[in-house]
Amino acid sequence: MKILKINHTFLFLAISLLFIQCKDDDNYTPEVALNIPDPIELNLNEAKIAEGKETFRFDTFGDEALWTDVLKLDKATLGETNGGFGSGLSPNTALSIGLKVDAEALPQEVVDGISNGSIDLNDPLTTVALLSLDAVVGVKGTFDNDGNMIAMGITCALCHSTVDDSFAPGIGSRKDGWANTDLNVGAILGFVDNIALADILSVDTKTFNSVVNNWGPGRFAPVLLLDGKVTKPNGELATVIIPPAYGLQGITHETYTGWGEVSYWNRFIGVLDMGGQGNFSDPRLNDPDKFPLAVERGVYDISVSEDLVGPKLESLFEYQMSLLAPKPDPSTYDEAAAIRGQELFNGKANCASCHLGAAFADNVLHEPEEIGIDDFEANRSPTEMYRTPPLRGIFVKAEGNGYFHDGRFSTLNEVVSHYDNHFSLNLSSNEQLDLVEYLKAL
Ligand code: HEC
Ligand code: HEC
Repeated sequence: MKILKINHTFLFLAISLLFIQCKDDDNYTPEVALNIPDPIELNLNEAKIAEGKETFRFDTFGDEALWTDVLKLDKATLGETNGGFGSGLSPNTALSIGLKVDAEALPQEVVDGISNGSIDLNDPLTTVALLSLDAVVGVKGTFDNDGNMIAMGITCALCHSTVDDSFAPGIGSRKDGWANTDLNVGAILGFVDNIALADILSVDTKTFNSVVNNWGPGRFAPVLLLDGKVTKPNGELATVIIPPAYGLQGITHETYTGWGEVSYWNRFIGVLDMGGQGNFSDPRLNDPDKFPLAVERGVYDISVSEDLVGPKLESLFEYQMSLLAPKPDPSTYDEAAAIRGQELFNGKANCASCHLGAAFADNVLHEPEEIGIDDFEANRSPTEMYRTPPLRGIFVKAEGNGYFHDGRFSTLNEVVSHYDNHFSLNLSSNEQLDLVEYLKAL
């Protein structure tokens, strides 16, 4: 213990000396500690947060009108043997396409039954039972008095929540705000009665299925039914990575291309993608060149008799703002390298010219060529630009589907190397590694 104490004192002295030395030198101040600003603190209302949490997890905004009446998700889930169609959605199938189960919603006998194998995870009726417990994250069943499932819908949690796998892979406690990187939205769209969706794109269901079944996990295309763009010019399927819904404190431009602020986008996705019953109006969508399908379908101005989305937006906003980006475990990065990386980030590499302040973002939109990427996704939005994304908690994406809006870079090293080339930063390979360690520490 004594030795340790001496060491600490010595270290303190050494650091103090370093500081004194640096102060004397006007030109150069080596950074001696990681100095990551705390997230911006917002004045939130606890009651609203609680209300917003319920909405985020369980509110379908009446989107059964789409998922049940049109897409027949309920019948597809039940399967032919239970009065629906197809093979049904067993828990094992559900887990294989990335749906998650909330272990905390399961009574002990269900937990035991899953553990000892007496509950059949290959039976669609088990999924229905899980739905009756509100245990399938982001999917909501409606039941009549006799316990029959009569409708199904989806909630925000489908794409923006996952679980911690504490019970089994795909089964655990909810982690709201985390992107569900396993969720195969395309597989769900391929599983339902999707003729109406294929019709909007003027293709047959076979073609539609061949597209959505190839999207892959953690991806979605929120603008597809507005502009009809199925592929990028390079032939790849046109999707974006599902982003987290946490860590948005201080971010004013939501979405990769800055469609608008949080509540604008919540209404957009709630009405236009989830099929929620709500008002939505944005004259920017009334543009036949850019959004031919939006114009054809008249969805740039939707007004319903009872708006089930609008009244929820305020509390939904509070809940999203309460979701902080996760902090990395200090054992997952090399602190000394991260400190060197911090200096590069703020200096030589000039990253902080855009990724600045507590949000690590300038809230400014950038031309695609400014950051050295193509304009395809940018041009699918009214802004025709990309917004600077927040970087806090970026370490989580190491287990996701890549970086940038479409996951084009699969590692942070690739991102840094892209910037090194694009901005001619002349970073040595060690400097690039240091920068990566810093990013992992955010
Ligand atoms: C089917 C999957 C899906 C559902 C359901 C969904 N989202 Fe999203 N969400 C996405 C995708 C994909 C994006 C990225 C769109 C983009 O940036 O172009 C996104 C973007 C966002 C963003 C912007 C994040 C950022 O970094 O700017 C927020 C906030 C958000 N969603 C919240 C919600 C809320 C709240 C709901 C429920 C009303 C919801 N989402 C429902 C897939 C989904
Ligand atoms: C001119 C402004 C600008 C500069 C300078 C800049 N970035 Fe970015 N950064 C962006 C934009 C815009 C995006 C979004 C690109 C996209 O989504 O396709 C981005 C994306 C990223 C991402 C991916 C985030 C994610 O969620 O996938 C990382 C990591 C990143 N930048 C790190 C850096 C580093 C490190 C530097 C310095 C070497 C840097 N950036 C310099 C604007 C900038």
